[in-house]
Amino acid sequence: MPVISFATPKGGAGKTTSAIVLATTLAQRVSVELIDADPAARTIAWAKRGSVPEKLTVTQSAGEKAIQDEIETATRRAAFVIIDLEGLASRLNAFAMGESDLVIVPLGDEQQDADAAVEALKQIRQEARFARREIPSALLFARTKAAVKARNAKEINAEMRGAVAAFKTELNDRTAFSSLHSYGGSLYDLDRSAVGGVEKAIDNAEAFAAEVVSKLRGDQQ
Ligand SMILES: Nc1ncnc2c1ncn2[C@@H]1O[C@H](COP(=O)(O)OP(=O)(O)O)[C@@H](O)[C@H]1O
Ligand SMILES: [Mg+2]
Repeated sequence: MPVISFATPKGGAGKTTSAIVLATTLAQRVSVELIDADPAARTIAWAKRGSVPEKLTVTQSAGEKAIQDEIETATRRAAFVIIDLEGLASRLNAFAMGESDLVIVPLGDEQQDADAAVEALKQIRQEARFARREIPSALLFARTKAAVKARNAKEINAEMRGAVAAFKTELNDRTAFSSLHSYGGSLYDLDRSAVGGVEKAIDNAEAFAAEVVSKLRGDQQ
C-alpha cells in the first residue's frame, strides 16, 4: 500500500506535525502505519503522550540498515504507510525516499524554507535517478497564515507553486495542530474548551488528506 514520506532538511518546517496530522486523519477510516525515522523520536513522544487512533500503529525505525524491511512489512499490514524523516540528507532518508510513492516537502512562506525545499527536491531527484524511476513529490505549505499573507510571503508562495508540484491545501499555522504535541492523540480527541479552532483544523486536515489520496490515485489536480 502507498508509502508517503515527509522530507526537508529544514528543522521545524513541519514534517513531524504534518505526518501526525495526516496519519491520524487517514486512520479515522483506514489502517495506517506511521514510522518515526528521526532519531529525535518526536513522533514516538507524541504517540506516548495520548491514545492514538485504533487503526493507527506507530513504530520507531531501527535505522538505515532496517528501514527498507520495515517499510516492506508495514505496506503488508496497513492501507497507508507514513514516514517522518530526519532533517538531513542521510542514507536513511535516501533509502526511505527510494521506497516512497509520494514524498511531501513541507515549507513555510519564508525564503529559508524555500531554499530548504529546493534542496529537498534536488535530493529526491537524485534518489529517483539512482532508483531509475520517478519519485512523485509535492510541496506542502505548512505553518502558513490562514488569513492574508504578507507581500513577501505571497511572492515566495507563488514562485514556488509556479515551479513545482504543490498541494493546493496548506496546513495553516493552527494552535490545534501544535497542541497535538502537548496532548497526544488526534485532532478529534482535543478538548474544545482548552484548544480553539479545532473544527477548522479538522476541516483543514481532511482537505489535505483528501488531496493526498487523490494525488496517489494520479487524479489531475
Ligand atoms: N501547521 C502547524 N500549525 C502550528 N504549529 C505547527 C504546525 N506545523 C508545525 N508546527 C509547530 O512547529 C514546530 C516544529 O514542527 P515539526 O513538525 O516538529 O517540524 P520538523 O519535523 O520539520 O522539524 C513544532 O513545535 C510544531 O508544534
Ligand atoms: Mg521532525
